[in-house]
Amino acid sequence: GVDIGKLRAESGLITLDPGFKNTGSTKSAITFLDGEKGILRYRGYSIEELAEKSSFIEVAYLLIYGALPSSEELTTFQNEIKYHTLVHEDIKKILEGFPSNAHPMGVLSSLVTALTAFYPESLDPNRSGDAVNLSIIRILAKMPTFAAWAYKNEVGHPVNYPDNRLDYCSNFLKMMFALPAAEYEVDPVVANALDKLLILHADHEQNCSTSTVRIVGSSQASLYASISAGINALWGPLHGGANSAVINMLENIRKDGGDTKKWMAKAKDKDDPFRLMGFGHRVYKNFDPRAKIIKKAADDVLDKLGVNDPILEIAKGLEREALEDEYFVERKLYPNVDFYSGIIYRALGIPVDMFTVMFALGRLPGWIAQWKEMRENHEPIGRPRQIYTGENLRPYVDMSKR
Ligand code: ACO
Repeated sequence: GVDIGKLRAESGLITLDPGFKNTGSTKSAITFLDGEKGILRYRGYSIEELAEKSSFIEVAYLLIYGALPSSEELTTFQNEIKYHTLVHEDIKKILEGFPSNAHPMGVLSSLVTALTAFYPESLDPNRSGDAVNLSIIRILAKMPTFAAWAYKNEVGHPVNYPDNRLDYCSNFLKMMFALPAAEYEVDPVVANALDKLLILHADHEQNCSTSTVRIVGSSQASLYASISAGINALWGPLHGGANSAVINMLENIRKDGGDTKKWMAKAKDKDDPFRLMGFGHRVYKNFDPRAKIIKKAADDVLDKLGVNDPILEIAKGLEREALEDEYFVERKLYPNVDFYSGIIYRALGIPVDMFTVMFALGRLPGWIAQWKEMRENHEPIGRPRQIYTGENLRPYVDMSKR
């Protein structure tokens, strides 16, 4: 019953915890994570069971509304999403304004923010119930369209419109890969692999991008503004951007002759800024359960697709060495979700700079669920304190005297 925050504020004391390593920002009923034991559960269901038995859309429903849907609820949810997959034609004009070398994450976050202009009613902080739900459905429906269009802009191809006969992942793949006047059949192996990857990325409690979504939303900014901020937070190489950084790193190691020992030494050298990308995690200090599932899936998918990617062997070699290396063992550094995910994305034909966009597609239901929970709990505006280390009061110096 004691409100520590209030007590501290009254006493003038401030907890200094850079990076919030040990500061809880909220209570949440969405995702349970035990970093020591390597446990991850969405709404009480284990990530292992969900990855094996569920679908991404079902997991999205679970995260956002708190329970697994009945078959009728799931059909309604899917149909609602399909109804909104098309985006306003004027959004294409915004897309066309981007140079082709624009990073797709920047394009994605801009298009998501642009939704506030097409649905200004979403800006009303007092919206509730069905009105908020409509914003939720719209963003779920339109993100795959934006993601595929960001890619089309990059390669300079005409965009594809959504095909609502298809499921969520197949529709995305078709918009991404279909070319004019050419047949495109979605390979179910590819669609299933993507679906599983999206499930594994769907939520991860108060990580950098999710905390960003909650803190932006805490000022009563709209869902679209909050999600767009989350996309930008995810972009960085220490967060979602790690998945592309991993592939670039593995490629560099391969080109360098595959000498994993040399690169391990670089990662351990404190004078060298290089870090082993895809290794280490703020919370998992034993293993990342998602990495285990993805490692197995990588073997499976590459086998089914008949892809032989030499970087998979390099990745496995690095993991083997790290498990026996004092530096990595001491610091409890294990492969995280992104160590093997890039290898699968690459086998699916997804280009490297779209990897973080794929992560954003997967994380979207988690961001929505956390934004919704924050609003429903009427959480206060997020506003951390600081310890000032600057100058004391000093007189203004006239320009002629500087
Ligand atoms: N390679 C080499 N050394 C590492 C690595 C790594 N990947 N990760 C951490 N370390 C070392 C640090 O240098 C530090 O060593 P020290 O105690 O001798 O100074 C120690 O391990 C602890 O590292 P911190 O950076 O303090 O740990 P933090 O919890 O702040 O960072 C992070 C976690 C950002 C994930 C970090 O491990 C990292 O940079 N990893 C590589 C990037 C990456 O894979 N990010 C994806 C994270 S998962 C996700 O977002 C989905």
